[in-house]
Amino acid sequence: MSEHETDSGVVRAGEIGVGVVGAGWMGHLHARAYARLPHHVTDLPWRPRLVAVADPVLAAAEDHVARYGFARAHTDWRDLVADPEITAVSVASPNSTHREVGVAVAEAGKHLWIEKPVGLSSVDTAAVAAAVHATGVRSTVGFNYRMVPAVARAKRLIDDGVLGPLTHARFRLLTDFAADPDGVLSWRFTREHGGTGVLNDLAVHGVDLIRHLAGEVASVVADGDRFVPRRPLAQAGASQYGRGGADSLTGEVENLDYVSVLGRTTAGAIVTLEASRVAVGDQNDYGFEIHGTRGLLSFDFRRPGELHVAAGSSYVDQPATTYAAAPGDGDFALFQPGAGNPTGFDDLKVSECAAFLRGIAEGRSGGATIDDALAAARVLDAVAESVEKGARVEPA
Ligand SMILES: NC(=O)c1ccc[n+]([C@@H]2O[C@H](COP(=O)([O-])OP(=O)(O)OC[C@H]3O[C@@H](n4cnc5c(N)ncnc54)[C@H](O)[C@@H]3O)[C@@H](O)[C@H]2O)c1
Repeated sequence: MSEHETDSGVVRAGEIGVGVVGAGWMGHLHARAYARLPHHVTDLPWRPRLVAVADPVLAAAEDHVARYGFARAHTDWRDLVADPEITAVSVASPNSTHREVGVAVAEAGKHLWIEKPVGLSSVDTAAVAAAVHATGVRSTVGFNYRMVPAVARAKRLIDDGVLGPLTHARFRLLTDFAADPDGVLSWRFTREHGGTGVLNDLAVHGVDLIRHLAGEVASVVADGDRFVPRRPLAQAGASQYGRGGADSLTGEVENLDYVSVLGRTTAGAIVTLEASRVAVGDQNDYGFEIHGTRGLLSFDFRRPGELHVAAGSSYVDQPATTYAAAPGDGDFALFQPGAGNPTGFDDLKVSECAAFLRGIAEGRSGGATIDDALAAARVLDAVAESVEKGARVEPA
């Protein structure tokens, strides 16, 4: 992080060397976030330097080098983790790799920005959390929907008691990326690499939002299903957006496409969470409606700059106001100077990157941490158990 000699040269003062493991969709977002960070955040002691990217598909890693200016591409993530010029590592590879890579990053004494869900189940997440705590490195987890400025306003209003005590709430993450039966059998659809399917893909974001906004989850009862049983086999490195032909060989989808959860928070609010990756006609229909004894607020990710709030002195016929996200709401002011200017998905990752690096600078973990990931993973273990048993379950 400061000027010193390394095996391969001099690390300049004012820079922090970063590496990205996994050069797929999220790898691009992490790389772009590091590259853009100095455009938006000017008060950090150093700017990120893109040292290395690792992906077993060399063409994907080389594409990252060409686009973002990484100094090196590796096919083995171990070479990246061992690189003395790298101080902070992003893990954006499939879920099955999170445990081994995350633990190795922490044990190498490097700070960890890791994608959700952090492993296949809470056993993996706990192992990464233990390594982070044992080594004292900083951790940030890719729960990007917390970073939406309107969601930050929602949290502030709830914490200020504007809604009164929370009574009931609905969270949804409905989308169609897996709705086409010709969509290939990427890593997401296997137990070995994706784990529990839609629970790890989408519901984990919903659980994080429930914990962030409505409180800890005390119990759940859930049901779920797999609606597309077989898919065309995929090439190594294929994303879930690849398509097979009618004559392709097929393999079995091993995890859930859909889940519906009914839960209780420790404070007694009733919450529902619905997540689907096969919701034909719905694209990124992510959002929530949260009710308290005195009001309601609602948010739809497809209109991310808006928060609807009904709160005041009337209980009946209470009107709702639509607020435009504005400076003061989360990181809005990093991107735009006036209310209502839209921000996008990439901006959420810039915010997450800022939380990660600011945390390192201040000696703490910024944004959602590995402990948030572990709490969410334990809730999802309970959801999976409830689907399996058809019973109400209390998370460990
Ligand atoms: N925060 C979010 O909103 C969000 C959205 C999508 C995905 N994700 C998470 O990001 C992670 C990656 O998902 P994605 O959509 O980018 O997947 P993807 O399939 O687009 O990319 C994954 C990449 O990892 C590479 N890879 C496979 N094994 C590897 C290994 N051992 N070492 C290094 N690279 C390896 C693949 O070749 C591929 O290039 C997953 O954990 C997923 O849950 C988070």
